[in-house]
Amino acid sequence: MKTRVADLDFELSITYSVIERRVQEIATEINVQYAGKTPLLVGILNGSFIFMADLVKELTIACETAFVKLASYHGGTTSTRTVRTDLDLKSDVRGRHVILVEDIIDTGHTMRYLVNKLKDNSPASIAICTLLLKPDALEANIPEIKYTGFEIPNEFVVGYGLDYQELGRNLKGIFKRVD
Ligand code: IMP
Ligand code: MG
Repeated sequence: MKTRVADLDFELSITYSVIERRVQEIATEINVQYAGKTPLLVGILNGSFIFMADLVKELTIACETAFVKLASYHGGTTSTRTVRTDLDLKSDVRGRHVILVEDIIDTGHTMRYLVNKLKDNSPASIAICTLLLKPDALEANIPEIKYTGFEIPNEFVVGYGLDYQELGRNLKGIFKRVD
């Protein structure tokens, strides 16, 4: 299935039903590993909003949710490697088991920045749960990545919360760029 977002063409790469099944599997792992710990799930806005919603619906353990807003792409199709904080975390993370919920890890600079910042506030633990990971694009060392939905090649994707120029977040699956 093909679609156009702004001036670029995309084709379906991961269907919604495949995503749904993977989200259930990840939730099952979190349900087991965080039983009795009441984790604080922190979604990174804007991209993670759909993944975060689908994920927490599958959690059966006690959990809290919060959001931060970070930006590193600023409208293009490549990372700028400078991270801007648009909305800071209001929750107290001291002594908490924090799970950062991200749409995609590309260069990894956004996550490295956020994890370093959170560590100053003494959480009990920090884990990262990302729907997508581009291993070939990673420039930072991020041992905190504990849950990955799908590893994808180094290509630009939209849909399921991810955008190109703020468009395409509403597409139901993940779509990759084609020439
Ligand atoms: P990083 O700091 O390079 O890892 O960039 C991470 C952020 O860039 C993600 O949270 C996304 O918002 C955005 N991003 C990275 N790759 C893509 C992509 O293929 N499509 C849309 N946004 C992306
Ligand atoms: Mg993001």
